[in-house]
Amino acid sequence: MIDQAGIVRTINPEYTRITGVTPDIIGKPLVSYRPGARLPETLASGKSQVGVYRKTHDREYVVDMAPVVVNDEIVGAVSVCKSLNEVQLLTLELEKQRQKVKELQERMSALHRVRYTFDDIIRAESNMQDIVSIAKKTAATDLPVLIGGESGTGKELFAHAIHHASLRSDKPFIAVNCSAIPSDLIENELFGHFEGVLYSKPVIGKAGLFEMADGGTLFLDEIGDLSLDVQAKLLRVLQEGAIRRVGEVEERRVDVRIIASTHRDLQQLITKGLFRNDLLYRLNTIDLQIPPLRERKRKFPSLHNLY
Ligand SMILES: Nc1ncnc2c1ncn2[C@@H]1O[C@H](COP(=O)(O)OP(=O)(O)O)[C@@H](O)[C@H]1O
Ligand SMILES: [Mg+2]
Repeated sequence: MIDQAGIVRTINPEYTRITGVTPDIIGKPLVSYRPGARLPETLASGKSQVGVYRKTHDREYVVDMAPVVVNDEIVGAVSVCKSLNEVQLLTLELEKQRQKVKELQERMSALHRVRYTFDDIIRAESNMQDIVSIAKKTAATDLPVLIGGESGTGKELFAHAIHHASLRSDKPFIAVNCSAIPSDLIENELFGHFEGVLYSKPVIGKAGLFEMADGGTLFLDEIGDLSLDVQAKLLRVLQEGAIRRVGEVEERRVDVRIIASTHRDLQQLITKGLFRNDLLYRLNTIDLQIPPLRERKRKFPSLHNLY
C-alpha cells in the first residue's frame, strides 16, 4: 500500500514471497525502488487496474490495483499480487510454442515449394525435347523416376519440374543430397527418430524427411553415394510404403513419390558390389538420361560455321 505521496506504507509477507521485494522498501518512494510500478498511475487517476501482467527478473505475476478513497479523497493506493502458478505458466509456454510451430510450418511450406518448371528447361535440341516430353508424361503418375547424367546437366531442374507438373504440386518437395550427409546421420535425417526416454533423459522425437514429404515428392540427389546399409533400409521403405523412425518399433505409413538422381553409373557400382540391384530396380521404373552438354551442339549451329 502506498500513501498520497507515493510512499510505501506497508507490504505483507505474501507480497514479498511473490515479488521478492523485502520490507526495507517501507517508508521509501515506490517509484525509486520499482521504476516500472503501475500503482502510481492508479494513485494519480483514481482508476483501478485489473490483471496487469508483470515480469521482473525470474518472477512473473499478475497485479490488481485500486485507489484507497476516504471521504471522496484519494489517500493512497493498494496493489494485490497473484503469482502465476505452474499450470498457468506452462499453458502460456505451450501457447508460445504453438505459435512458433505454426510460423515454422508456414516457413517450411514456403521453402519447399519448387522453383523450376518445365518452362525453365532450355531444350532447343531434339534429344532434349524427347526427354522433356517423357518427363512430362511421368508427371501425371506416381511412379519412381531415376534421373541420370553428368553434373550440371539439369537433373535437379527436371526433378523440380516433374513435381511441379504433378498432382502433388501443392504438397512438399523435399530435396536431400545423399552425398552431403555423413552416412551415420542420414538414417536419422531420412526416417527421423523416436520420442521417449533414453538413459532416464527425455528425448524429443523428430520427423524424418520421408514424413515431411508425406503427400509430396522426395528428391534423393546423388543416390549413388548412399551406403549399402542405408540402401537396404531405403529399399524396405519403398517396398512397404511405411517408415520406422530410428529407435521405434511401430511403422508409420507415408505416401511419398521418389525421384532419385545420380551422376554415377549405377550398373558399374552394382558390379563392384557398391549398389543394390534390387534398389535400382525399384528406382528406375522410369529412367531419364539427360545428355551431356557437349552432345547438344545443334543449339548453336551458326556459331560452328563462324570458326
Ligand atoms: N536445360 C537447361 N535449361 C535451363 N537451365 C539449365 C538446364 N540444364 C541445367 N540448367 C541450369 O544449370 C544449373 C545446374 O543444373 P542442376 O539441375 O543443378 O544440374 P545437376 O543436378 O544435373 O547437377 C542450374 O542452375 C540449372 O538451372
Ligand atoms: Mg545436382
